[in-house]
Amino acid sequence: MTSLPGTSPDPLNLEQELAGLAERCDACRHCGLGSSRTQVVVSRGNPKARLMVIGEGPGAQEDETGLPFVGRSGQLLDRMLESVGIDSNRDAYVCNIVKCRPPDNRKPTVLEMAACRPWLERQIALVDPGVILLAGATAVEGLLGIKGGMTKLRGQWRQGEGGSLEGRWLMPIFHPSYLLRNPSKERGAPKWLTWQDLQDVQRRLAQLESSL
Ligand code: SF4
Ligand code: URA
Ligand code: URA
Repeated sequence: MTSLPGTSPDPLNLEQELAGLAERCDACRHCGLGSSRTQVVVSRGNPKARLMVIGEGPGAQEDETGLPFVGRSGQLLDRMLESVGIDSNRDAYVCNIVKCRPPDNRKPTVLEMAACRPWLERQIALVDPGVILLAGATAVEGLLGIKGGMTKLRGQWRQGEGGSLEGRWLMPIFHPSYLLRNPSKERGAPKWLTWQDLQDVQRRLAQLESSL
């Protein structure tokens, strides 16, 4: 991002840096999730994208494939992004607060999120996104330390302050698993609201594009 000069490596190094990061995550045992996972789930998508999507943590399909958001939630997320012209693999870099699957799909603990934080920090620094989409309450808590209902948090732009978040736009949205449980598309329903939020994200990305 233009407001953060010098934080991004040149594109040739970017690939190397990300490969190095993936290797270090694979070897990581900073928290207990490292020993119960099948494999680490670091990212998918385009590391040069202006948009980063951050979810909670890997589920069963992600743990099996090594890729984030590829199960039912991920497929819904992809379709919703697609509906506003965002291809999750071409136009976004997708990752999670924790890189290893919590057993029984429980939420990651505060300690696990803190243990995994350096990897996320590194991802943000390398990808240098202008906009970060936070999928669900755990992503908001994990990244910003804010606990609250998504009904209040979603749809409100936040400006990152300090450290790796300085100058970035953050948009909390409902987690797609919540939308799977609440499938109504009626005006005012969670799915409809999320669609408004994603349109807002698309507009912000277009603005950033045109101001480059
Ligand atoms: Fe390391 Fe994060 Fe996996 Fe814990 S969840 S072992 S901190 S990579
Ligand atoms: N839910 C998440 O939060 N992340 C994934 O990668 C998959 C499901
Ligand atoms: N509760 C959550 O934890 N996440 C959502 O996205 C919605 C409700």
